[in-house]
Amino acid sequence: MSKFILSPSILAADFTNLGESLRFIESKKATWVHIDVMDGSFVPNITFGQPVVAALRKISTLQFDVHLMIENPQLHIDTFAEAGADWITFHYEAAVHHHRIIQHIHSLGKKAGISIVPSTPVSALEDILPFVDLVLVMSVNPGFGGQTLIPRCIEKIAQLNELRMKNGYGFRLSVDGGINNKTIGMAVGAGADVIVSGSSFFSGALEWKNLEN
Ligand code: DX5
Ligand code: ZN
Repeated sequence: MSKFILSPSILAADFTNLGESLRFIESKKATWVHIDVMDGSFVPNITFGQPVVAALRKISTLQFDVHLMIENPQLHIDTFAEAGADWITFHYEAAVHHHRIIQHIHSLGKKAGISIVPSTPVSALEDILPFVDLVLVMSVNPGFGGQTLIPRCIEKIAQLNELRMKNGYGFRLSVDGGINNKTIGMAVGAGADVIVSGSSFFSGALEWKNLEN
């Protein structure tokens, strides 16, 4: 299996003890943490926002991989950057001026990611791929942890990987949703190099090797 970065999602962590959850991530040698921000509008669920990111920033040097599942992400880039996000990923479906938002994220010295839900085709991203640092393919419908991966999304990872190789793009390719011991190999095999895992990681069931340093 190719090497990849593991980005455990604290959506599946114990919310009464998030500090301990970050220690657990570090103990497993993961170098990123995936932080799912939901607004109850773009997705049905509401999770946490900038104050939680800022509090965690004080106690961790992990790369903060912030996944914004919110409407109007352009209004919240500055505050998430200030709170300590390293990677800021917004949804293609939640924005119009994608290029402008990416430039904005870069102007703050942060890495910019774009995400697509399962019903959005890869072709929608073609014009923006040269400018992003990360593409996050949702492999479940966003909003909740613990769902089953939609197999068609693995084909989208392969398509993006092919575009990346053909054009020499430098973006990281992330997969998010339903990753477990059965699906991790498919995702990495298709070209994903940032693996997000919530429920399987925190239950202790996920097994992996070949982590990038
Ligand atoms: C879902 C979130 C995911 C979620 C993944 O909307 O974006 O990051 O935490 O959880 P699992 O790994 O349980 O599918
Ligand atoms: Zn996520």
